Amino acid sequence: MRHSLRFIIPLAVSLFLIAYAVVPLVENLTLKWFIRDLDIRSSLVANTIQDKVLELAEGRSKTKLLAYLNRIIEDERLYALGFCDRTQKQLISTKTFPAKITCDALEDYMKPETHLLVSDSGPLHITVRQVKPNGASVGELIVVHDMSFIQRRSEETKKYLFYFFVALGVIVALITMIIAEISWRGWIRGMRTLLRVQGLDKSTEKPPSPELRPIARDLDTLIRDLRGDFGTRDESQISWTPEALRDILHRDLRGEDVIVVSNREPYIHTKRGDTIEVRRPASGLVTALEPVARACSGTWIAHGSGSADRLAVDAHDRVAVPPDNPSYRIRRVWLSAEQESGYYYGFANEGLWPLCHIAHVRPVFRTKDWNHYKEVNQKFAQAVIEEAGTPDPIVLVQDYHFALLPRLIRERLPEATVITFWHIPWPNPETFSICPWRAELLDGLLGSRILGFHTQFHCNNFLDTVDRILEARVDREMFSVTYGGKTTAVHRYPISIEWPPAEALTRKPVADCRTNIRARHNLPADAMVGVGVDRLDYTKGIVERFLAVESLLELQPQWIGKFSFVQIAAPSRSVIGQYQEFEVHVRGLASRINNRFAKDDYLPIILLVEHHEPEQVAEYYRGCDLCYVSSLHDGMNLVAKEFVASREDEQGVLILSQFTGAARELPEALVVNPYDIDQSATALHAALIMPQTEQRDRMRLMRALIREFNVYRWAGRMLLDAAGMRVRGRLADRKT
Ligand code: F6P
Repeated sequence: MRHSLRFIIPLAVSLFLIAYAVVPLVENLTLKWFIRDLDIRSSLVANTIQDKVLELAEGRSKTKLLAYLNRIIEDERLYALGFCDRTQKQLISTKTFPAKITCDALEDYMKPETHLLVSDSGPLHITVRQVKPNGASVGELIVVHDMSFIQRRSEETKKYLFYFFVALGVIVALITMIIAEISWRGWIRGMRTLLRVQGLDKSTEKPPSPELRPIARDLDTLIRDLRGDFGTRDESQISWTPEALRDILHRDLRGEDVIVVSNREPYIHTKRGDTIEVRRPASGLVTALEPVARACSGTWIAHGSGSADRLAVDAHDRVAVPPDNPSYRIRRVWLSAEQESGYYYGFANEGLWPLCHIAHVRPVFRTKDWNHYKEVNQKFAQAVIEEAGTPDPIVLVQDYHFALLPRLIRERLPEATVITFWHIPWPNPETFSICPWRAELLDGLLGSRILGFHTQFHCNNFLDTVDRILEARVDREMFSVTYGGKTTAVHRYPISIEWPPAEALTRKPVADCRTNIRARHNLPADAMVGVGVDRLDYTKGIVERFLAVESLLELQPQWIGKFSFVQIAAPSRSVIGQYQEFEVHVRGLASRINNRFAKDDYLPIILLVEHHEPEQVAEYYRGCDLCYVSSLHDGMNLVAKEFVASREDEQGVLILSQFTGAARELPEALVVNPYDIDQSATALHAALIMPQTEQRDRMRLMRALIREFNVYRWAGRMLLDAAGMRVRGRLADRKT
């Protein structure tokens, strides 16, 4: 019916317009015909009666003539008759004869064209004929016809025409509706068949209907072109917000379940005396993924590591978060102390972490840890199966803790779309080959449909590694690996943060932040302050950072007493010996430098080894003059992006290690080699004296980059690629 209306409404409008144009035309035409009839009739009447009129006029019998004329006008349409007798110089006329017509003014009515007169009783038709018995005129006969019957007929004609068009409209509409409905159904049936043949629906094998066969190939090309355009157009044209992500999930991925899997959970419940506190861990992964999880409203499976985590969950180990406005749920997985020690501290953080980072710390691989790693990956796979509401969920596997998980999920949920993101660098093949279980790790990762890294360099390293270790087809054009008959796309997706920035990042005014952090650490109101924010990890270059501060004070002694560096160092993995030694080293170095430059209360380095909530970190970002990110090797480093996002005042300088993924995206930072202590010291000095206009110019460019490439775009690109792969997979299946 809806489709038929598309035809009927234009049809009704067209008919109305035709009627609107045709009715006056018909009216005009019939009027002309009637007048021509009256002209002929008048001539006939005049010709018929003129001899008798002449006879009666010559007999001087006015009464008889009048009686004769009155008898003639008994005809319904003949309204009046008159005779201008030129001999007697008198007008003999019937009573109805219009007073306006006199014998002296007949000239006008004698012209060949039709003469109409409007009298009180309506429109009249006048015809004047000269009576010439012997060639000489003896008078004029005036025939007057009543034209009101024309008006009556015209009204009737209009009425009939109206009914005619309505009837015509109804008949044509009915016919159109029936034809349209039949054709529409036929077309839809044909298109469905055709699309099935294109591989969009596996449920039938029927070829396209004969009428669609000629266009099948063109349509196929068109669909492919549109798909291609859609991918590129979408990414650059979408305004990347949580709504945009939701839209992709519903439109491109048909509202499939989203399951995030990571080791670290986004909210940790901890006991403090009798109360339970909720904390946000210091983790780049959580900073990035949490807004995505909020947007997608799915399930986040993670290790329940907090001391009060078991108290907060329901009977199915689930808890709704964020606590103040729940929009997704955490499913907690419990690990025994041995499992945590072997899988997390052991294989993941003593083995894979140093293996993937060039930080000159030797990886340690123990069979016992590997067995726990396998066991815990199995445990998380079981949790994914339990949480999946459909056979084809979208599973976002995070990081090096779960290299085996993609394959385990694929084995049990073959239709699932597994997207794995490796948040840390991927080493070169020689380095990776150190790992005794290198082939198993690669096999596990290649269970993913998409495997993402922050940089192209890490993608290249991964392909080289696969090429070296596995019997697989590595496609360096498409950036994919085909292994065991299944293809994994290996792409670069540089991670980011939410934009507009989280409210916690910008809540406190910059002026208050400046005052607060200086007052808190007994610094003069005009002291210059640098900030570093990291987990206490040997990859972060904290030692090199402190040495750069020392070098600055050596090379530019005017800063002694005027510049302090605040290092927020969140305790991390402190069970591991290397981390314990590192903390001792960092603390010792800070004291040595502080002692060296100590003057009254002055401390060049303020080391805060404790957990800070995001609001507290934001106060340092906003209150400082520079932020120094000196990682020796880092996948991305989101501290750099958070610092930039927090500075809507467009002030402050970012000093950034060239060995972070972020350095490729933020070249307007002062990019340094953190191992080059003097170069880093020079950058610190340059930052401290940088004019405000230059700070603004650099900040603006960096903020524009993060605004454009926010974390919704990061997740959205992977989801769009996954959607594209699903369609391509169906097409390929169809071909086979
Ligand atoms: O970004 C790398 C990363 O290892 C993440 O996987 C992790 O969330 C973060 O650093 C913090 O490490 P952890 O979870 O071991 O405290």
